[in-house]
Amino acid sequence: MKQTILLLTAVLLGLGGCAVKEETAVQEPTEDTQKTAEPEQTQEPAETEGKTLLVYFSRAGENWDVGVIEKGNTGIAAEYIAEVTGADVYEIIPVVPYPSDYMETVALAEEEKSAGARPEIANAPENWDSYDTIILGYPIWHGDLPMIVYNFLESYDFTGKTVYPFNTHGGSGLAGTPDKIRNTIPAADIKDGLALTGKTVQNDFTQVQGDIDVWLQENNLIR
Ligand SMILES: Cc1cc2nc3c(=O)[nH]c(=O)nc-3n(C[C@H](O)[C@H](O)[C@H](O)COP(=O)(O)O)c2cc1C
Repeated sequence: MKQTILLLTAVLLGLGGCAVKEETAVQEPTEDTQKTAEPEQTQEPAETEGKTLLVYFSRAGENWDVGVIEKGNTGIAAEYIAEVTGADVYEIIPVVPYPSDYMETVALAEEEKSAGARPEIANAPENWDSYDTIILGYPIWHGDLPMIVYNFLESYDFTGKTVYPFNTHGGSGLAGTPDKIRNTIPAADIKDGLALTGKTVQNDFTQVQGDIDVWLQENNLIR
């Protein structure tokens, strides 16, 4: 009898042991799968060797040809570029916000341009040195970069960095801004830019996505 009880106990303990083992066995492959899946995901977005930072300045409110907008045209394009490239994002925020009234902003920007002003920036990019590729987005203001973008360019060391400019505009196109950027930060390699009209950003984003995709592919910023 004692032997029978001992045998039964051993069998039960043995089964219990198996059950525990099975639970562990189920968990292990899940952990392994996660471990192997993670690096593949981080490798996907861009083909560039180092890290990419998307820097942009954009203004919401009343704007040329598009009425009152909640998010600036450049900001909308920037959001899509960040999504498809996996770039980190830094938005240049002015200490003093621009008016939402279009004509007031036009007058203020004109004053800033003729004074060569450098409007103050409220925030700074993190880990600047870790990026070797900068995608730079801005609106065309008075046939030029907004003065606050010059402030940004003059505030950081661009040695060894490659800059891909894109802009939104109301008809001026690139307005020679890649050359203006070259003159401002000669230490960087400035690639040719992409120009998008603000109106197309607001009204035909499929077209804009197509233009952005082609530009990113041409520059190996996306597969
Ligand atoms: C102050 C100011 C000046 C502008 N000057 C020009 C210009 O010279 N040429 C042009 O094509 N568009 C000009 N625009 C239109 C903007 O470039 C266009 O609306 C752009 O998409 C705005 O981008 P955002 O919404 O990201 O700020 C100007 C707009 C503002 C507010």
